[in-house]
Amino acid sequence: MKALTWHGKRDVRVEEVPDPAIKEPTDAIVKLTTTAICGSDLHLYEVLGPFIGEGDILGHEPMGIVEEVGAEVTHIKPGDRVVIPFNISCGHCHMCGMKLFAQCETTQVRDQGMGAALFGYTKLYGEVPGAQAEYLRVPQAQFGPVKVPHGPPDERFVYLSDVLPTSWQAVRYADVPDGGTVAVFGLGPIGQMSARIARHLGYRVIGIDGVQERLAMARRHGVEVLDASVTDDVPEAIRELTGGRGPDSVIDAVGMEAHGSPAAKLAQTVTGILPDAIAAPLMSTAGVDRLAALNQSMEAVRRGGTVSIVGVYGGMADPMPMLKMFDKGITLRMGQAHVKRWIDDLMPLVTDDSDPLAVMDLATHRLPLDQAPHGYEIFQKKQDGAVKVLLNP
Ligand SMILES: NC(=O)c1ccc[n+]([C@@H]2O[C@H](COP(=O)([O-])OP(=O)(O)OC[C@H]3O[C@@H](n4cnc5c(N)ncnc54)[C@H](O)[C@@H]3O)[C@@H](O)[C@H]2O)c1
Ligand SMILES: [Zn+2]
Ligand SMILES: [Zn+2]
Repeated sequence: MKALTWHGKRDVRVEEVPDPAIKEPTDAIVKLTTTAICGSDLHLYEVLGPFIGEGDILGHEPMGIVEEVGAEVTHIKPGDRVVIPFNISCGHCHMCGMKLFAQCETTQVRDQGMGAALFGYTKLYGEVPGAQAEYLRVPQAQFGPVKVPHGPPDERFVYLSDVLPTSWQAVRYADVPDGGTVAVFGLGPIGQMSARIARHLGYRVIGIDGVQERLAMARRHGVEVLDASVTDDVPEAIRELTGGRGPDSVIDAVGMEAHGSPAAKLAQTVTGILPDAIAAPLMSTAGVDRLAALNQSMEAVRRGGTVSIVGVYGGMADPMPMLKMFDKGITLRMGQAHVKRWIDDLMPLVTDDSDPLAVMDLATHRLPLDQAPHGYEIFQKKQDGAVKVLLNP
């Protein structure tokens, strides 16, 4: 089959690789019809190279048609249309029992000290072959795949794999009081959907980014926006919009590659050119994240408010403003999304023909799998108006 494989910094290629096959009775094979590129893939493309093997298949936002199932997979059958959550969880361990699916004890990557395995996401997360491919082997398929109805276009459902549950969790973790205000840093796909979900739940939303088409997209979905590219002091501008006090909650939907952190950008660039054997331990012990958005989130939130971190961070010794966080009494929540936990909240919204979250207005590019390298490039460089890129294998 064809698949998108990683070969080095900003070097991904579509190549012929062996077809996946059932190995365990709990596996399924799914023929993919749509598979997306995520902001998390951009971290692999640019800074997390030391943790990826040459030839690894990337991708973790797929949907398709079940081709084959193992003997223990009974809730889906060949021909069913399914979306596959990005984290691989068993559904029956202690953590899954608490709906902490991103910490599944059956798939935890213990030799790396990490949580549940993820599709297409580095040695840290199990080096499971990813989903930017024609076919996907789905481990723990007795639990993971989510059945969706035949009929509506893939775009209505594909975001159940990551974007929607991640954004839903970001908003829930932000703990916005009734009628309250939330600021969303970063208006990529995750920030867009976090903002729309917060609007749907009745909150006032202020969105911050420096990319014009992303600001425009947020604006047309009822978000007040701040253009970070022309605002000197973003936290101060947010305070001005909220009676001088700051918003009740802030969502950081930017993560480790924030603009405006020159020292950490240098560290990321340096670790990017060192050999893996030196760079990986360095990245695992040092503070290498670009923290501009996170620091501004702490600065902007009102006293006693909550910061919900949904953007991915990876440094082990990042400096944090402890005096400010402690004195303001900030609550912090974060982590990988527990995808299946939020499906029951989201399914009624994506199957509603009136499209309350406007999922049909997120993808800007639909490309054949062959053009995935181009998709990565325009998504990373924010060229050609790219906000979300979907691939059709
Ligand atoms: N927690 C999870 O389970 C989970 C799941 C999916 C994605 N993520 C993470 O969420 C983050 C966003 O993903 P995405 O797909 O929306 O990616 P993206 O790269 O398209 O979005 C990031 C946005 O942040 C903006 N930005 C950069 N620096 C900024 C700053 N200083 N202030 C304000 N905005 C700034 C960029 O212009 C961009 O629009 C990534 O870190 C991704 O890894 C986490
Ligand atoms: Zn993703
Ligand atoms: Zn489990």
